[in-house]
This record gives sequence, structure tokens and C-alpha cells, in this order.
Amino acid sequence: MKEVDLLTDLNNPCAFVPTMGALHAGHQSLIRRARELADEVVVSIFVNPLQFENKDDLAKYPSTPKHDSELASEAGATILWRPSYQSIYPGELEKLSSGQIGRSFEGVHRPGHFDGVLTVVNRLFELSRPKYAIFGEKDFQQLFLIKEMAAKLHPEIQIIAAPTIRDNSGLALSSRNVRLSDQGLEGAQVISKVLSASSSESSLTSARQALKQIERQDSFTLDYAEIIDEESFQVADESSIKTRVIIAGWIEGVRLIDNMAMQNSLVRA
Ligand code: PAF
Repeated sequence: MKEVDLLTDLNNPCAFVPTMGALHAGHQSLIRRARELADEVVVSIFVNPLQFENKDDLAKYPSTPKHDSELASEAGATILWRPSYQSIYPGELEKLSSGQIGRSFEGVHRPGHFDGVLTVVNRLFELSRPKYAIFGEKDFQQLFLIKEMAAKLHPEIQIIAAPTIRDNSGLALSSRNVRLSDQGLEGAQVISKVLSASSSESSLTSARQALKQIERQDSFTLDYAEIIDEESFQVADESSIKTRVIIAGWIEGVRLIDNMAMQNSLVRA
């Protein structure tokens, strides 16, 4: 695996996995998926200040460069790309807009976050020109908005969704989990438990009822819990075909998000 700050001489087709570092087994599964699609696999590490509306969150974002190299190489990356801020944002900053969907759910609690995500992903795509780009389903709203942006600005790139990787307790892997105490990690299990319960219900009404459990947890401060229509990222209704349960909130000052597809594809009240 080569480590570079500027991308040159890429073999095509290439598969691309953008990250902000602090890699874990979830990122490795994205890299392995990329390796199934192409021999050249570029993994970027760039902590994008534009997507942190909270400067404290940016300051606390874990940095594990040596560990990242080991994990990326082990999973099959051929190039580890650590672009400089200057190469990503050379001139005057022109932010992309994530529109109404970017201001809903995560966007309510993290204003401007998705504008920052789309702006950096667009720049990373311009510089890497991959055939495939792989994103985890854990950040489902991000995945939705990136698919929308790529369809408009980079129709030649195939956006590949990869499933969420969970630990043995069901907790979705996230770079933020390292900031939780043992007690916090235990408390966080409630998220996947409630998601499982709600997503296995067979009507929207009963799924929403099951979702209310998350409001009763002392250790978890809820930002939102909802069932969305996967095609539109709006609140699901009786006409929705593919639906997904999404939850976000706080434990020990750490923000956690997760989601699960409804097991019954046709959910009716
Ligand atoms: O999901 C992430 O790690 C980031 O939002 C991404 C896609 C690398 C953009 O900075």
C-alpha cells in the first residue's frame, strides 16, 4: 500500500472509500467491498472541518494515523491518501447545498453538516475520479444525499451502499464509540435493541409504538426517532414501500446515530 498526499498515476477502474480516519472494522468492511469491485482501492483520510458545526466535536475527533495505515493495508487498500486542506479547498470556498433534506433530521441538530459533507465529497470525487465509491448505511441520510449529489454532478460514479457493522452487543461501530465508558457502551445497546424491535413490527403504527421505548431511557438523550421512506427521506406514510427506522441521540456527551430497514417491505397501518 502506498501512502500519498497527492493522487497521481491511478490505475483504472478504481474504487474509493472516503474516511475521516480513526478506522475500525466498519471501515475495513467498506475497503473489502471496494476490493471486490476494483484492484485499485483508494482510501482517503481527511478530517473535514466544514462538516463540524460543533468545534468541540472537531477538536475531540480521534486521530490514530499509524493504526489507520495498518487497518487500511490489512483490508486491501492500495493507496492511502491524506490530502492537505489546501489541496481540497484551494481557492475561495464554494459550499454545495444539501437542500431541504439536508436540513431535516440530522440537519436540525447539526446545521450545515450535510453542506460540508457534500462539499468535501464532491472535491474528493473531482480529485480521485473513481468508478465506484463506497459508503456505509450507518450514515443513511449522508448516503441518501451523496447519491443525490453524485447523480447530478458525477453520474459516472457508482455509489455503493455497504451494511452497518455491529459489535457483539449490537452497537453500530463508530469512531465516536471510543469516547464511551463501559457503562456508556452498555447504555448504548438500547439503540439497536429498540431499532430491532421497531423494525420487526408489521405496521407503521406498531413500529412507531415500539420506537417510543427509546424515549423512556434515562441514559439516552434523544434527538429524534422516526420511520422514514427510503426513497424520499421524508417521514414514512401508508404509501411508503421501503421504510427504515432511524434514531439519534446522546450518551455521556457523545452523539450516536443508527438505523435499520423495516423487515416487512410493505408496512401498512
Ligand atoms: O462518513 C464520513 O466519514 C464522512 O462524512 C466523509 C464521507 C468521509 C466525508 O468527510
